[in-house]
Amino acid sequence: MRLLFVDCCISQRGQDSRTRRLADAFLNAFRSAHPEAELETVPPETLLALRPFDPEGLNERDALASAGAWDAPVFALARQFRAADAVVVAAPFWDLSYPAALRTYIEHISANGLSYHYDEAGCHGDCAAGGLVYLTTGGDFEREDSAGVIHWRQLAAMFGIPRFEYVFAGGLDACPEKGEETLAAACELAGKLAAEF
Ligand SMILES: Cc1cc2nc3c(=O)[nH]c(=O)nc-3n(C[C@H](O)[C@H](O)[C@H](O)COP(=O)(O)O)c2cc1C
Repeated sequence: MRLLFVDCCISQRGQDSRTRRLADAFLNAFRSAHPEAELETVPPETLLALRPFDPEGLNERDALASAGAWDAPVFALARQFRAADAVVVAAPFWDLSYPAALRTYIEHISANGLSYHYDEAGCHGDCAAGGLVYLTTGGDFEREDSAGVIHWRQLAAMFGIPRFEYVFAGGLDACPEKGEETLAAACELAGKLAAEF
């Protein structure tokens, strides 16, 4: 079992990041429940160093895909994502979704012919993971149509990952006096989820 942790806990709070605390709650419970599991992390530095694709980059990537050169470095993150048995993504709720670095990561893992493909019936996912968990913390309360959650739910489906779960610790800045209580409850939920994931 290989768990891929996409660590987008980019925060001005450093180690006091609420998103990191939520991610740690999940990871600690996951390690206890699955001591044999391998953990692979995509750290914030890797995400922040990614460049969005420009037309030249897309042409180069398409040429490599046409040649079946899936071992090319440009596909490294897509290969890693495709092979994971389970995925956990943690990111703060920024500008009604998540940090741009995570959006760029999505461009890199979305490789047609590797992580998904098309046929006459539409798009089919080709990733091995049985489940994807999205963890986020927000200043405002959770809304039903939170873009980050919706986007990751749809991405999981696109990649052929059958199970999607999320934990949203919301209202942390709106109600700072309840922040600790809210975050502790979210961490407990994340821990329970990890234990049966
Ligand atoms: C750049 C930036 C953008 C943010 N945008 C939103 C937002 O659109 N909605 C919201 O509810 N909170 C927003 N927040 C607040 C964060 O979601 C909240 O403080 C979160 O808990 C930060 O997580 P951290 O402690 O891991 O840094 C934003 C914070 C930052 C720094």
